Amino acid sequence: MSGDLQHPKTGHLPVESLSDAQAKAELAWLAEQLTRANLAYHRDDAPDISDAAYDALKQRNLAIEAAFPALKRADSPSDQVGGAVAEGFGKVQHAVRMLSLGNAFDDDDVTAFDVSIRKYLGLEPDAVLTYSAEPKIDGLSLSLRYEAGVLVQAATRGDGAVGENVTANARTISDIPETLTGAPDVLEVRGEVYMSHADFAALNEKQAAAGGKTFANPRNAAAGSLRQLDAEITKARPLRFFAYAWGDVSAPLAETQSGAIKRLAQLGFSTNALTVTCDGPDAMIAHYKRIEEQRATLGYDIDGVVYKVDDLALQRRLGFRSTTPRWAIAHKFPAELAWTRLDAIDIQVGRTGALSPVARLNPVTVGGVVVSNATLHNEDYIAGRGGDGQPIREGRDIRVGDWVQVYRAGDVIPKIKDVDLARRPADAVPYAFPDLCPECGSDAIREEGDAVRRCTGGMICPAQAVEKLKHFVSRAAFDIEGLGAKQVEQFYADGWIATPADIFTLRARFEGGMQQLKNREGWGEKSASNLFDAIDDKRTIPLNRLIFSLGIRHVGESSAALLANHYGSWEAFEASMTAATVGEGPEWEDLISIDGVGAVMAASVVTTMQQDAERASIDRLVDALKVEDAVAVATDSPVAGKTVVFTGTLERMTRAEAKARAEALGAKVSGSVSTKTDILVAGPGAGSKAKKAAELGIATMDEDAWLALIGAA
Ligand code: IVH
Repeated sequence: MSGDLQHPKTGHLPVESLSDAQAKAELAWLAEQLTRANLAYHRDDAPDISDAAYDALKQRNLAIEAAFPALKRADSPSDQVGGAVAEGFGKVQHAVRMLSLGNAFDDDDVTAFDVSIRKYLGLEPDAVLTYSAEPKIDGLSLSLRYEAGVLVQAATRGDGAVGENVTANARTISDIPETLTGAPDVLEVRGEVYMSHADFAALNEKQAAAGGKTFANPRNAAAGSLRQLDAEITKARPLRFFAYAWGDVSAPLAETQSGAIKRLAQLGFSTNALTVTCDGPDAMIAHYKRIEEQRATLGYDIDGVVYKVDDLALQRRLGFRSTTPRWAIAHKFPAELAWTRLDAIDIQVGRTGALSPVARLNPVTVGGVVVSNATLHNEDYIAGRGGDGQPIREGRDIRVGDWVQVYRAGDVIPKIKDVDLARRPADAVPYAFPDLCPECGSDAIREEGDAVRRCTGGMICPAQAVEKLKHFVSRAAFDIEGLGAKQVEQFYADGWIATPADIFTLRARFEGGMQQLKNREGWGEKSASNLFDAIDDKRTIPLNRLIFSLGIRHVGESSAALLANHYGSWEAFEASMTAATVGEGPEWEDLISIDGVGAVMAASVVTTMQQDAERASIDRLVDALKVEDAVAVATDSPVAGKTVVFTGTLERMTRAEAKARAEALGAKVSGSVSTKTDILVAGPGAGSKAKKAAELGIATMDEDAWLALIGAA
């Protein structure tokens, strides 16, 4: 670490004696130094200056700003708290979420996709349904916002809701127009940033010659090049862009997907030439095969073919599941394979106690990436049995010392596909899956019907406790700046924190007492106070984040959002979960009536919320917090917050569609009429429900009236 840091020309001069030009130059230099120090500290966990030097820079910055207020920079480091600039890029809230796609891995999945869409839309079997089919570009997605025809913002996908502001970098890409003629007033163009094979090879050669970092594959190179804090670096990188979708638009681009793509091409975007329309699965699969044949000679990476319902009115009707559209699917190419030796099998214990076997492999390159670990799923998988008890790999088990075939499916952890018995060492023995937790020694039990063996140690198992804490502070949960996996492990090991609630008493315990955070190795005055502030910052937390952070089995980010939207407040959620009985009763019915919440997840939530030790820990946590109520999905819709029941035959939409649309507008759809029901939508043949609604004086309307109410008539 360097010692004192000063501007080489003016750093030693008293602030009062600086000229305007000197002050301006020094402020720019200070902003640069502080940004670099912040990144080294927060992003790279590798502080490169001492806390004292950091503080001195900040003080100097403040002093100059006080003396020359007019020269204060828009990106002044004094306006940034703790690690606010840590990630380097500003955050952008997407006006329309950037979603991912569901996957199809074989022809049957494609047929099933078509069938499910027809069913959802209630189409006659002989009705023609047209799809667009286009290559799935293997790069990273980017959203470009144009206002009055001028590029005003470019953002990465991020978590789908919030991305990174990479506007300056995007402007350096020649495929991206700065201005558009004849575009709608607001137009968000979405597409993929990628790098061609030739440009990738040349870049790596250049990087290697200059002793710089080389990239594993074109996608990493594209991502690394776009996410440069210095746009000049991006400019020097040969990035390209294909447009294939859009977000916020003030006027429709066209009536069909294919029409919209043509329009984007007319506006000056590069669109992919291998885009066609197909009337049904046979034609889609034929196009997939054609693209697959050309894959090696395209000159850029693609990893499948995307099918989209062509008619945009139908796309609107189909809408979205929590993270993927119903109207599109990605038909993936088979993964690349490689053979290597299995050196060892390690067991990792996760936050729900699951014992996960991990293959330690002799490193091997698969699809351009070096792989040395792969998942082995569970004990049945190692033994050669599938989830249904039937043999997989024709019953061949996997043993340490075996030669195994490894593949990567998309971004996920590598997997093992097969084993070569001919190369099995003579002394290889069947793998004995542990029945004790390797971390805490508790029994590891496999429950009836569960593929996974789990440690029964609960909170006493250090692995579970640490994983729970890591989950708790992770990005989609509490996201506490300066408290990452590494710090959580250290604090846990030293007994400073055992459960999430302990995080919120850290300041009280370690700011001024006998033991102080600032005296710990790797910490100082500044970083300690930053952490305490960052923790206090998160005492107010949105309900969905809180529910997600609890680490309840089966409750991911999107399910947590469903629960939060449904219950609205922690008090309502907590009361209902406490009163619920798994499998029956009004609270249970209410819980599983949520679209996207199944019985397994529901049971997991109820059991966790009723388990004494868990509950005590959760209550202690919530006591330390202010939980923000969920904001209804669409508060301005006339049915937001209303409970709706559909009964009888619906003629203009299917039941699934009716439910999904109502929920998208913030209504709650229930299966039974009660005093809580606000609206009954009754089609022909409505029976007892209509009668009950009439008795209870509940507003009843037909399908047309309902569609008129939600503005869809
Ligand atoms: S459509 C609402 N079309 O694949 C769906 N995505 O796995 C919007 N991608 O996040 C995406 N080529 O980054 C679409 N022709 C294509 C694509 C494509 C590549 C990427 C995109 C998306 C990811 C989903």
